[in-house]
Amino acid sequence: MKPERPSLTAAFVAACRGLAPLLPERARLVTDPYGLRVLGPLAEATVDALSRAPAPLRTLAWGPMLPMLPWAIYMQVRTRVLDDALRRFLAEGGAQVVILGAGFDARAWRLGDSLGDTVVYEVDHPATGRAKRARFGEQHRVRALSFDFERDALSSLPERLEALGHRRDAPTFTLWEGVTMYLTEQAFEATLGAVRDYSAPRSKLAFNYVDRAIVERPSFAARAVSAIVSAVGEPFKLGFTPPTLASLLARYGLAVEEDLGFDEHAARLLPEPWARVVRAGRRIAVAERTATAVRA
Ligand SMILES: C[S@@+](CC[C@H](N)C(=O)[O-])C[C@H]1O[C@@H](n2cnc3c(N)ncnc32)[C@H](O)[C@@H]1O
Repeated sequence: MKPERPSLTAAFVAACRGLAPLLPERARLVTDPYGLRVLGPLAEATVDALSRAPAPLRTLAWGPMLPMLPWAIYMQVRTRVLDDALRRFLAEGGAQVVILGAGFDARAWRLGDSLGDTVVYEVDHPATGRAKRARFGEQHRVRALSFDFERDALSSLPERLEALGHRRDAPTFTLWEGVTMYLTEQAFEATLGAVRDYSAPRSKLAFNYVDRAIVERPSFAARAVSAIVSAVGEPFKLGFTPPTLASLLARYGLAVEEDLGFDEHAARLLPEPWARVVRAGRRIAVAERTATAVRA
């Protein structure tokens, strides 16, 4: 990660979300009209025109972008599962969202009325936040916080959120999407400590992570992905097995409610052959902040 410039991985995943209109309808789980804004008006106009073209032409359009197809499908699953977790929280009356490593996450813009009075605190490097506001426009419910998870004292995060209006006595949905694999173990744990400190009971923490094996014994495909993200300054550093993750979260008062592989979510959400495009080895965990200590 090079803090002085907008995150390239954030731009990449946003663009993958924006390609949804080119997917066959059966493989489309979420539409993010903001995703392509990171690529500029030409990309937006091209995808818009192709999305209205006959299906065979849309299929042909994937030709030059074939390596992005599995990513576009993967992002459909990731965005949908996390959207669903957020909607459940809102349905239970929650009205505060903290997005750690917000990047070009468009939920505050995209989910519109279903957010009601919810305030969305977006935490990221300032360069990415600035680029986002330039492309998406201002959004009244967003309060942006410039923060570096590796350099700033994570113990200061609760106070800095509070200074923007965040309330520690009301439940918070913390979204930590596409970030944990880029962190050191110390930064990961320090962030869990901050989440524990600013989260009232019944708050949720939802994030995706990679299996430890992907970091320690990567397959050829995983090595290729890692080489690409390392080249843009954001190498994979951190992975977990589900049991070690659950006991680590428990030390921070967070009880795992759900921890499923992307392949399991894909099998539930997508028809074949699209479900098979999504590989195992990446997972999504949702944990609840409990009032009492959690037994690992
Ligand atoms: C892959 S992007 C994910 C963005 C967004 N959550 C999404 O899923 O679209 C990772 C994000 O984490 C942010 N990030 C990574 N390391 C960071 C750090 N040390 N401090 C602050 N933000 C960081 C990057 O700026 C980037 O926006």
